[in-house]
Amino acid sequence: NNSLLTDDFGRKHNYLRISLIEKCNLRCTYCMPADGIPLSPKADIMSADEIFEIAKTFVDYGVDKIRLTGGEPLLRKDFPAIIKQLSSLETEISITTNGILIDRHLAVLKECKVFKINLSLDTLVATKFNAITLRNQFSIVMDNLVLLLEHNFKVKINVVLIKGFNEDEIIDFIALTKEMPISIRFIEFMPFAGNEWDSSKMVTQQEIMSQVEAHYTPENVDKLIDEANFTAREYKIKGHKGSFGIISSISNPFCDGCNRIRLTANGKIKNCLFSNSETDLLTPFRNNQPIEDAISAAIKSKKKVRAGMTTTDEINDPTLNQDNRSMISIGG
Ligand code: GTP
Ligand code: 5AD
Ligand code: SF4
Repeated sequence: NNSLLTDDFGRKHNYLRISLIEKCNLRCTYCMPADGIPLSPKADIMSADEIFEIAKTFVDYGVDKIRLTGGEPLLRKDFPAIIKQLSSLETEISITTNGILIDRHLAVLKECKVFKINLSLDTLVATKFNAITLRNQFSIVMDNLVLLLEHNFKVKINVVLIKGFNEDEIIDFIALTKEMPISIRFIEFMPFAGNEWDSSKMVTQQEIMSQVEAHYTPENVDKLIDEANFTAREYKIKGHKGSFGIISSISNPFCDGCNRIRLTANGKIKNCLFSNSETDLLTPFRNNQPIEDAISAAIKSKKKVRAGMTTTDEINDPTLNQDNRSMISIGG
């Protein structure tokens, strides 16, 4: 039953990332164009029941980890209903959120056994938060981080590093892990439609490590990685309650262990974060056709590394790096 989700390179896709919504209550400049994205017509967005039925099929074929993303997943009015339905499936469920609305969902998250929360937070300075998100919500996010820890959620913090913006906060973020049992993940800035990426704005894995090593002696915690399909290479500072990791999608890709398949809010399968070729799943689903054909086509066409771009130069090459959806409508 598992072979439907196994690609030509033997990678089993047991991790489904579902984007629930294309909208967000922040406007992070690395994630979306300044003038927004054209939203799909409402009728094209998967309903709660459709999400459940489609997720169930994936679980039947071996998916055991589902992550809900967005946009901002908690903006979906029916988020509690979605998560309750999904929690009846034999799978782990987690979410990636900006944290603004999470205080009102703590009860339903616990009830549905969603304990792993990945929080996007790129700076510890309020004015910089306002500058990168174009909204003034810093204190809410910080309060909600503390609240999540008080309630014993397992929190990872996603920090997208951008040259000249926040690479001076790497050490401050790691300092947070002294008392907080969190995992900070520093993420190399990636290119998507309208985010004005260029490689000079990236802070690479190597640059991050040399900053860290000037202050600390990080210990590799490879063995603590709970899965072979990591996105982050993990490290720990002796005596710290938390850890940190680096997600080096550009300078040091981790595609060999990729187990991730994505479903957009309008029901298209993306077989790779870097691929702009999408497979429509929702149309056959609505036409009562088996969706296995679409799933199989998406999995079988997956490339070995980053949608076929093996080097950073290729990512930089506009003829190879086709304009991909903005991150806001992929969900990371
Ligand atoms: P865990 O399950 O907690 O390890 O989370 P995750 O890293 O799978 O997901 P999250 O939504 O927190 O994403 C963190 C960062 O990793 C984001 O910038 C994502 O875009 C990036 N990321 C997640 N999955 C992939 C992937 O398959 N490929 C690449 N290149 N980056 C990814
Ligand atoms: N490059 C790297 N990571 C990004 N994210 C959003 N846009 C980008 C980008 N251009 C991250 C956010 C969020 C996660 C799902 O994706 O940090 O936490
Ligand atoms: Fe998987 Fe594509 Fe990410 Fe590589 S770049 S880990 S193949 S989703």
